[in-house]
Amino acid sequence: MTTNKYKDIILNKYADCDEDSRLIKDRAHNIEYLTTMHYIQKFLKPGAKILEVGAGTGRYSIALAKMGYNVTAVDLTPRYVEIMKRKSRRLKNFQCMVADALDLSMFKNNSFDIVLNLGPMYHLFTLKDKKQAIKETLRVAKKNAVCMFAYLSHSSIMLSYGLIKNHVSEVVSCVDKTGRIKDIPEKVFAAFYVEDFKKLFLQTNTKYIVNVATDGIAPAMSEKIEQLSKKDYQAFLNWRFMTCERLDQQGLSSHLLYVCKKN
Ligand SMILES: C[S@@+](CC[C@H](N)C(=O)[O-])C[C@H]1O[C@@H](n2cnc3c(N)ncnc32)[C@H](O)[C@@H]1O
Repeated sequence: MTTNKYKDIILNKYADCDEDSRLIKDRAHNIEYLTTMHYIQKFLKPGAKILEVGAGTGRYSIALAKMGYNVTAVDLTPRYVEIMKRKSRRLKNFQCMVADALDLSMFKNNSFDIVLNLGPMYHLFTLKDKKQAIKETLRVAKKNAVCMFAYLSHSSIMLSYGLIKNHVSEVVSCVDKTGRIKDIPEKVFAAFYVEDFKKLFLQTNTKYIVNVATDGIAPAMSEKIEQLSKKDYQAFLNWRFMTCERLDQQGLSSHLLYVCKKN
């Protein structure tokens, strides 16, 4: 069994965090949700058995269960699991429990048709833990199952926390010579360059499918996006869907989604 040395830091972060409304609170956040959901649905087959690891309050998982899929959702934060239980009372095809992405031993090998890891990679600070979370996600996926991993870019931390919240010097004090923001557990979030995230999969039994910029610079441009007319917002969304797989969108995106298939 692998224990999460930084569990208290993560639980503390989410102790008073309103994760339930994060993805619907404004258009910029909704873009991340809509784009991620678009890719999840693209790879879903009728009757699929889904696992979401780091499901928060179930924004994705409960929506998927309502579409009729058989969904299991786990999260490290017990408060969120309680919220999921309340929200899913009437859903017979949904179950949830507290679990750590580093240890999914309650699930057998090759159990799920699709495994979503949409949060834990933001809070893993050692190479060993990052690889362990990926290994566990892949282990419980069936052969040919699609697995998706959400992660944060270095640009995300600099734009959303450094620039917008006026902490540029603090962010710069944490970067190495190449601009990588170092993994410091007390800072709560771990970020990646796209090539570093891809390298984590080199020795795994997977086939790369796509890497998606799920929100681009939308969080940094939130005020402008809020001001768009309905028609222009729809046009902007359409353009994002057209371009979110492009390399030139990726490094600057706040959130990214790595999609692969287990061989
Ligand atoms: C930013 S939230 C995302 C929640 C949800 N997937 C969503 O997008 O709305 C990150 C979530 O990952 C969970 N988390 C962080 N580290 C985890 C770990 N090692 N194992 C399981 N869940 C974890 C947190 O409790 C939190 O609910």
